[in-house]
Amino acid sequence: MKRDYGTNGNNGTNGSNLGWIFSVCFVISVCSVISLQSFSLTQSKKTDEIEKKITALLEQMTLEEKLGQLQQLDGHADGRYRELHAQLIRRGLLGSTLNVRGARITNELQGIAMGQSRLKIPVLFAFDVIHGYRTIFPVPLGEAATWDPSWVTRGASIAAAEAASAGVRWTFAPMVDIARDARWGRIVEGAGEDPYLGSVMARARVRGFQGEDYSKPGKIVACAKHWVAYGAAEGGRDYNTTEVSERTLREIYFPPFKAAVDAGVGTVMSAFNDLNGIPTSANSFTLKQVLRGEWKFDGIVVSDYESVRELINHGLAADEKEAASYAFNAGVDVEMVSRLFNQHGGQLVKDNKVRIASIDEAVRRVLRIKFRLGLFDQPMIDESREGATLLNENHLIAAREVAARSIVLLQNQRETLPFKKELKSIAVIGPLADDQVNLMGSWNGDGRKEDVVTLLAGIKAKVSPGTQVSYGKGCEIDGDSTTGFNESVMLARDAEAVIIAVGESAEMSGEAASRSSLDLPGRQLDLIKLIHATGKPYVVVLMNGRPLSIEWVAENSPAILETWFAGTQGGHAIADVIFGDVNPGGKLPITFPRSAGQAPIYYNHKNTGRPPDAKNKYTSKYLDVAWTPLYPFGYGLSYSEFKLSNLQLSASRIKLDDKIEVSVMLENTGSRVGDEVVQLYLRDVAASVTRPVRELKGFERVTLKPGEKRRLKFTLGREELGFYNREMKFEVEPGLFKVYVGNSSEGGLETSFEVVD
Ligand code: BGC
Repeated sequence: MKRDYGTNGNNGTNGSNLGWIFSVCFVISVCSVISLQSFSLTQSKKTDEIEKKITALLEQMTLEEKLGQLQQLDGHADGRYRELHAQLIRRGLLGSTLNVRGARITNELQGIAMGQSRLKIPVLFAFDVIHGYRTIFPVPLGEAATWDPSWVTRGASIAAAEAASAGVRWTFAPMVDIARDARWGRIVEGAGEDPYLGSVMARARVRGFQGEDYSKPGKIVACAKHWVAYGAAEGGRDYNTTEVSERTLREIYFPPFKAAVDAGVGTVMSAFNDLNGIPTSANSFTLKQVLRGEWKFDGIVVSDYESVRELINHGLAADEKEAASYAFNAGVDVEMVSRLFNQHGGQLVKDNKVRIASIDEAVRRVLRIKFRLGLFDQPMIDESREGATLLNENHLIAAREVAARSIVLLQNQRETLPFKKELKSIAVIGPLADDQVNLMGSWNGDGRKEDVVTLLAGIKAKVSPGTQVSYGKGCEIDGDSTTGFNESVMLARDAEAVIIAVGESAEMSGEAASRSSLDLPGRQLDLIKLIHATGKPYVVVLMNGRPLSIEWVAENSPAILETWFAGTQGGHAIADVIFGDVNPGGKLPITFPRSAGQAPIYYNHKNTGRPPDAKNKYTSKYLDVAWTPLYPFGYGLSYSEFKLSNLQLSASRIKLDDKIEVSVMLENTGSRVGDEVVQLYLRDVAASVTRPVRELKGFERVTLKPGEKRRLKFTLGREELGFYNREMKFEVEPGLFKVYVGNSSEGGLETSFEVVD
């Protein structure tokens, strides 16, 4: 989807300088064509040279050394390597590590590879740099709530620069799993439920980590994970079985991976889950046919942590040797942590169960990434740069900006927010109000709690010198104790306004952190109710890694901010929003259900033969809860108001291969500068395969001053209008298409057009 802004009226260009502009453009285009050509010539020369060097190396390598390149082993959680790593590296038997990090430590181990091993093949240091290395950005679900790919790219590029300064050149990110079930804890690691938004975010993160060329200083190679449909775990229980039709794979779960591959992602991780009976780490349909065959992916496939050995638990492989052959022959190149390729590779070759040519191909892919990273030329890093890079001032500024952009205003009755900085007194209440650890969320890299600005600290730094700020924890995040309730209620009574920070602990989402309930844990809701009863104006600040079922809060609380886990600068960013220095503009990247019993719930569902109808019992709904979400996908308010009008199409009918332009006028009708995310959804009304009620096909986050207007344009073509037909071919079919343009997945302006043969 191409997006561009139109401007109203004269853009300042007049006839006399058009010719001049044309000439300049012409010269620039010619120059760019020439430089692009010479760039691609140099590139292909470079590629040829690399392939030659790899061939030369392969000729010298023993089978054992080759298998060593396909092995990845885990270091200590604090970044140190294990003695075993040094021993194996000395013998040329370990290609990469995971978790080993820090400039001095990685240099030490690299020194062994370069100084003491026979072939001097550098080690590749990998780590889960998911939303920051030392400067922690909001959790990925929060970053997706920015609907702002350029800032997400910036966040990933800072994470890459910090990681690279610590010797890490491979991150296991972006996690691009679509998640439709909020019980699944890993929902926090991805971009939510939508393949379009997920693809935009996947691309943005890959660009941020890798840049145009990951050999450049400060760049690292990315890894799209977990291939694939891991998020479809039955019952939302982590690691659970998945059953997903090929159409749903291709339309929902594959697109963010495809976007990552198209953006040049260097590596892909095969997942833990059993997919339609074939575990994903042994699934040749997904690994070979789709990834390598259809998408021409030439990078590394790394298995997830021990997922090769787990093929035995799945009941696929009878023993370790079989597990190794299944995974390897299905297309896994590098084995993470379990060592079955290593231990059984030799025998498998002798038994003709694994071809040596396939091993060479896998090793080639590993070496290719090492060459592309420039590790052979510059294996050691400059240790003095680490200190200046980590937590660099500019990184903190960016982390604060991204965090502020990720915040979603869910409710703001009677303009409760923003609070005035000059309030005489504020009570800051709640178990997450002064918490440094949880603010970093799960997968927090090398983040340190002492770097984190809590909400309380952020508020103290923001308010006027005369404002009294009191603090009461109220209760724990989880557990039954109410001993802090009385104190908090007293503090609230004495204050002019109250801020209540509640939610989940960081470890309640992330890996192996599924929940059967989406309610606020422990006694937190009771705490909110008590504060509510004081009659003071208050805002509920939510910190959590998944949608929560907060129906009482939504119905009763005057103001609610969804702040996710906002990272190192979280407290400042949330205070920026509460006190109006930042006007919130984030939108939900995921549906908020009313109750866990509605899961899976997502906006792009099918209509069914009996769409819900309150007046008709025999329609698709529940007896005990509404069928509608609490907050829909794409939802979020602002301190300002925006109006969409004048929705126009460039045609009322188009041919199958044509494009159509949709344009709409956006106006800030409020009194503050603010952001609106304009979202375009499509519905293919009748097709040879049933289609979702709505599908996101374009969006733009726009900043407008009060009274400012802008016309936004979206182009729809084959990619947006097509789908997988009964023959599983991606085609556009003739018929009626409805277009909705709005500020969430519900409502909005509506029009339609026809596609004809
Ligand atoms: C997770 C991956 C992660 C890997 C390495 C696994 O348990 O599923 O997402 O990259 O560990 O830490």
